[in-house]
Amino acid sequence: MIDPFFSVYVHIPFCKKKCNYCSFYSLTDNSLTDEYLNSVNKEINLYKDLLTEKKDKYKTIYFGGGTPSFLSLNETEYLLDLFNKIKPLKNMDEADFELNPESVSEDKLKILKDFGINRVSIGVQSSNDEILNFLGRVHSYKDFLKKYDIITKYFENVSLDLIYGIPGQSEKDLLKDLDNITSLSPKHISLYALETHKNTFFENLKIDEEKQSDYYFLIRDFLVGKGYIHYEISNFALNGYFSKHNLNYWDRGEYLGLGPSASSFISNKRWKNKSDLKAYIRGLNNGKIEFEHMEELDEKDELNEKLMLELRKMEGLDLNSEVYNVFKEKIEEQIKKGYMEILNGKVKIKKDFLFVSNKIISDTMF
Ligand SMILES: C[S@@+](CC[C@H](N)C(=O)[O-])C[C@H]1O[C@@H](n2cnc3c(N)ncnc32)[C@H](O)[C@@H]1O
Ligand code: SF4
Repeated sequence: MIDPFFSVYVHIPFCKKKCNYCSFYSLTDNSLTDEYLNSVNKEINLYKDLLTEKKDKYKTIYFGGGTPSFLSLNETEYLLDLFNKIKPLKNMDEADFELNPESVSEDKLKILKDFGINRVSIGVQSSNDEILNFLGRVHSYKDFLKKYDIITKYFENVSLDLIYGIPGQSEKDLLKDLDNITSLSPKHISLYALETHKNTFFENLKIDEEKQSDYYFLIRDFLVGKGYIHYEISNFALNGYFSKHNLNYWDRGEYLGLGPSASSFISNKRWKNKSDLKAYIRGLNNGKIEFEHMEELDEKDELNEKLMLELRKMEGLDLNSEVYNVFKEKIEEQIKKGYMEILNGKVKIKKDFLFVSNKIISDTMF
């Protein structure tokens, strides 16, 4: 557990093409990028006092999407400059920027580097072109490799995103992905089991969860064998390269999310901006932000949330913590059922049940 700090998330709601599985908010129409950027500027101004108040505790920023690298060179400079004025990105413990292979150029990387971006996350998803095509990605593995070479000239702290458990993906395909990816020695790897979401092309796709669970263990053993530390359900990193920004989410640190669809958590309130770029622009033209939802957490929500976040991290839940005491009886039931165990003063979900951790955690909550 780190000391929670304050962080900023910026949602860039544009993509070249919508991937078949993706439910994140983004548009493929770039006619509103200028208005979007002006609105981000206005939203920052609305939060000026808050950002000034949090300045000393503000340690990480994450530009995510959508596809942040979709923006042109001028747009990227404009966006980074807005945040640089609040606190120089060079002074951040971590300043992250998501890249998609199709929209990376050397000039863009130079801009990111000059502003102080110090970690990049690339969506490769697979090293198999047939699978990439099935997922609806616009890049081939070769395209990715070409860009990876350039990216690593500028950034050493690189994270790669992969998806597994895709219909038609064999164990051999998965091992090939793992072999290909680890041969590049990225500092961090996020691996997500394919999920199907409403209103996506894959809405009715059948997923084999048993296969996904088997693959999860293969992945874990493979990556741990290559020296990666499994530090969160879906995240692996070399020593010293855990994602600080994401750890702050999992440690319930406060964060302000800017842009349509961005979420925030401040003073025990959670809210989400509307997932609608036009509503976002219209609202800010009228000096306000339109929200999708807003809630103030009560004591029960807070405890449930703490339990969930602590158990998602491999470190586990401290036996001396308030949360452990509150949930002690329910945790003991899970230990009796064989789903959890106590190791070195911490309670953890047993490795064999990590793939179904969501279910175990929700059964333990109030
Ligand atoms: C917010 S997305 C955006 C990242 C970036 N635009 C890209 O395409 O790589 C972050 C990651 O979530 C994962 N992801 C998104 N939708 C998913 C789904 N339905 N199932 C599994 N993983 C998913 C992908 O690995 C993706 O890289
Ligand atoms: S996965 Fe990334 S590129 Fe694909 S639609 Fe989602 S945000 Fe856009």
